[in-house]
Amino acid sequence: DDVVATHIFPHAGHIGKEQRGPLAGQQAATLWLTGLSGAGKSTLAYALERRLLAAGRLSCVLDGDNMRHHLNGDLGFSPRDRQENIRRGAVVARLMNDAGMMVICAFISPLRSDRDMARQIIGSDDFMEAYISTPCALCEERDPKGLYKKARAGLIPAFTGVSAPYEAPLAPALTLDTSMLSLEQACERLFQQLCPRFI
Ligand code: PPS
Repeated sequence: DDVVATHIFPHAGHIGKEQRGPLAGQQAATLWLTGLSGAGKSTLAYALERRLLAAGRLSCVLDGDNMRHHLNGDLGFSPRDRQENIRRGAVVARLMNDAGMMVICAFISPLRSDRDMARQIIGSDDFMEAYISTPCALCEERDPKGLYKKARAGLIPAFTGVSAPYEAPLAPALTLDTSMLSLEQACERLFQQLCPRFI
């Protein structure tokens, strides 16, 4: 049942983000937040979305945990499924950028190779990586969903930071440790340091 479509001919459009950007009043790009579960990616992503709205900018969050409830509902946490999760997220982000929308992606995206794939799909000029570097010990202490506890008890296999790897970015555009910053401070840094390049 692994049927792959053949005789497919993509149709090239003639209008891209360069044309739509001026109409949308912004040059859309994707801000990719990576970090451990509980690092603060989603909280920051939604705070930045509100911050951009207040500045009159259209943006939208793509959150791994949320997308796993619909588009990516068929995926688990094996390396292959995580890769597919990130690939789909990046494809959607690219489509939304092309439509003129800023996108804030919040995925653990634990492997460099998968984040490099996302960068390639989105286009390196439009892709900014922000590392939410909150230490694992603090993420585990926060444990907002009780997942670290379950992972330690062996109830969740391949849990990132416990029994599955996390590879920190080598050259992120920005690193934010939420143990050192308030939500407002972290959000403002993202907004001030990364967004002006595109708005
Ligand atoms: S990934 O690695 O990028 O595909 O993960 P992502 O789509 O961001 O989903 C992470 C959320 O899924 C929950 N969860 C797990 N995380 C890591 N490892 C395992 N095994 C796992 N099982 C479930 C967890 O709630 C993550 O949410 P966040 O928002 O990151 O805390």
